Amino acid sequence: MPELPAVQRRSVLGGALAGGALALGMGAAAPASAASPAAVTAAAAPRRRPGQKSMINVAYAPHRTVRVAVIGLGNRGAGMAPGWAAVPGCQVTAVCDIRADRAKRVADALVKAGRPRPAEYGGSADAYARMLRRDDIDLVYIATPWEFHHAQGRASLLAGKHVIVELPIATELDELWDLVDTSERTRRHLMLAENCNYGRNELAMLKMAHEGVFGDVTNGHGGYLHDLRELLFSDTYYTDAWRRRWHTRSTASFYAMHGLAPIAAAMDINRGDRLTTLSATATAPKGLADYRERFVPRGHPSWNETYVNGDLVTCMIETANGRVIRAEHDVSSPRPYSRINTLAGSRGIFEDYAGTSPTGARVYFEPDHSGHSWRDFAPYRKEFDHWLWRKLAEQAEGGGHGGMDYVLQWRTVQLMRAGLVPDIDVYDSAAWCAPVPLSVESLERNGRPVAVPDFTRGSWVNLRPGLDSRATEMPPV
Ligand SMILES: NC(=O)c1ccc[n+]([C@@H]2O[C@H](COP(=O)([O-])OP(=O)(O)OC[C@H]3O[C@@H](n4cnc5c(N)ncnc54)[C@H](O)[C@@H]3O)[C@@H](O)[C@H]2O)c1
Repeated sequence: MPELPAVQRRSVLGGALAGGALALGMGAAAPASAASPAAVTAAAAPRRRPGQKSMINVAYAPHRTVRVAVIGLGNRGAGMAPGWAAVPGCQVTAVCDIRADRAKRVADALVKAGRPRPAEYGGSADAYARMLRRDDIDLVYIATPWEFHHAQGRASLLAGKHVIVELPIATELDELWDLVDTSERTRRHLMLAENCNYGRNELAMLKMAHEGVFGDVTNGHGGYLHDLRELLFSDTYYTDAWRRRWHTRSTASFYAMHGLAPIAAAMDINRGDRLTTLSATATAPKGLADYRERFVPRGHPSWNETYVNGDLVTCMIETANGRVIRAEHDVSSPRPYSRINTLAGSRGIFEDYAGTSPTGARVYFEPDHSGHSWRDFAPYRKEFDHWLWRKLAEQAEGGGHGGMDYVLQWRTVQLMRAGLVPDIDVYDSAAWCAPVPLSVESLERNGRPVAVPDFTRGSWVNLRPGLDSRATEMPPV
């Protein structure tokens, strides 16, 4: 087992001190802004309106039952609806899809699974607005195409509901700020549905980082490398080919959050450190056109499209405490799946997607290891297994994405029922999604660094718990 370095994050910080200054004192490099004079100066945070207050450390009011409404019942929404209904103390009360038949199909499936029938909404692009008038909804889960997330998230907050939005919560900087401000004004939480933050390896990595196994964490790499070409050109998978159409619009890191967010969480971004600058590079867009040439019949609607998004878009992100994160996005090249998940520091390194062991990960930590050869992650994952996985592994087994979908759903409902502070708040969600617009901006400036806004408006310096929560029970039903 690893012998922990003398400097352990929790014992040193005691949970109450300002983490930013202290983390610098712990041996991190100079602030990134000093290392990047070319960075565009940070756009000032918009002023809070009178009465508008931070949502940091704001607990949910306790809910006896969490009543969930789902907007968007395609691959993801239809798949997640039964998961919500399976969590103790959670009921799906309403479902909505612009295609009314999908609402009926999901309602039928819930009834077949022995759940109460949810109300159905559909038939128009704004049917969700009618649904939001209901007073039996506590949480809105949004699983529509990216272009609708901001408007639907905002409308849900304004209707007085808490919101959990699929990736990304919004695609423009002003929209991200708007969701932060609307959450602060309505006093409702909005969070990114980042299931990967609840992955078993990711949570063990986070605990190891916080307990000092890495020494001082200095760098991390993550992303979303998934060969989606067949699905992107399918006529039945993504509704109206919405996801392929994004590749005709701009060159952007659309969806790196699955790998970026766990790294940012392990680095305590917004909880003692923050993302400061981002510079992006993009390769030429070759993959989709090449695939179409070889596999898609002439006359298919895709032949009218021109793909402009670079196949591999890479963001180099610096943090206030001198760390660096590399976040990658590639969904248009042939390759096996990876979210990269690599974290490293002064005492060692964790690399996921690297081994043949059941955990799929490898490590090297001093003083346990020497000799420059990788070791199995398995004993570390056993020791640092997060309480959520110790508790839920059996129930989550066989569920979506290796069980992490159910862990995300169970924990979200537990936080609301027990009246706890969310693990992932609107500030985390905005920071993790900011690379979508910022990668566009940096690429337009030939890859120059651009400033990442501080959505917390200065509160990032305060250390506070997040996904590294203490074990708590689900209130009895
Ligand atoms: N976290 C994950 O692991 C994960 C996995 C898959 C997809 N996703 C995300 O889930 C979202 C949906 O992806 P998908 O694969 O299910 O796409 P999809 O095309 O299968 O489903 C989208 C659904 O939204 C519906 N819709 C569109 N406009 C609507 C509106 N105005 N009101 C109500 N419904 C509307 C469509 O009819 C469709 O049924 C995306 O944001 C995607 O990135 C996340």
